[in-house]
Amino acid sequence: MRPPSPSLDYGDRLARDPRAIRAMFSSVARRYDLLNRLLSLGQDVGWRRHLVAALAKAPPGPVLDLACGTGDVALAVRDRRAVGADFCLDMLVLARRKGRRRRHGAAWVAADALALPFRTGAFAAVTVAFGVRNFADLDKGLSEIARVLRPKGILGALEFHQPRRVIVARLAALWNRWVVTPVGGLISDDGAAYAYLPASVGSFADASGFAAACRRAGFPLPEQRHLSGGIAVLTVARKGG
Ligand SMILES: C[S@@+](CC[C@H](N)C(=O)[O-])C[C@H]1O[C@@H](n2cnc3c(N)ncnc32)[C@H](O)[C@@H]1O
Repeated sequence: MRPPSPSLDYGDRLARDPRAIRAMFSSVARRYDLLNRLLSLGQDVGWRRHLVAALAKAPPGPVLDLACGTGDVALAVRDRRAVGADFCLDMLVLARRKGRRRRHGAAWVAADALALPFRTGAFAAVTVAFGVRNFADLDKGLSEIARVLRPKGILGALEFHQPRRVIVARLAALWNRWVVTPVGGLISDDGAAYAYLPASVGSFADASGFAAACRRAGFPLPEQRHLSGGIAVLTVARKGG
């Protein structure tokens, strides 16, 4: 296990400094899929499935999977053209390799969610799984998503928010403390990366705060579904309502 380098200060991560966030995901990329399955007890697969199913509500056209990581959401899109975008090249390399292995036609683009290199109205849907919590500026990220969506396009965002139910929040805190942080630290190449995960949930908007941010960005009627007792939340919203 490699200790976090001084340039990757934990405080910078929590402040969502893009360089610190990108470097952190670079260092965990190789073990990222394994840790997802392990630390969620395989539930992350079902959560992403719900996200991809929400695409049925979108008008015809291509889908952008933003903050695509190793590509699991983009590669689950079968009936539309899919583009995966991420600002971490190590993640994109793994996504592209996985896409080739599966003979999937997704395109992979290096891009910052806060300044997307796509024309206005280019996509019928944008998905983001566990990405928005890392954005340096949530409002800016959501307004970029709204810009690249065509009218009536769909935003689907899967995210961890502080669970509403006290019992779920307590169990999640125990799981994070005794499993996610130590096991994630041990298996990933970054001792502190999996301490960032629960800490970043605590310092991010709760589900209703995120819905309010969606409304500010031009998605007037976000709908939310609490998955696995509220551990993960799927927000689905239509541009313009
Ligand atoms: C927790 S991972 C999620 C990856 C993938 N969506 C999944 O479901 O496993 C977060 C990803 O968001 C990316 N990311 C964070 N901030 C970003 C930004 N501003 N622009 C583009 N990608 C970003 C990271 O590089 C990382 O790959």
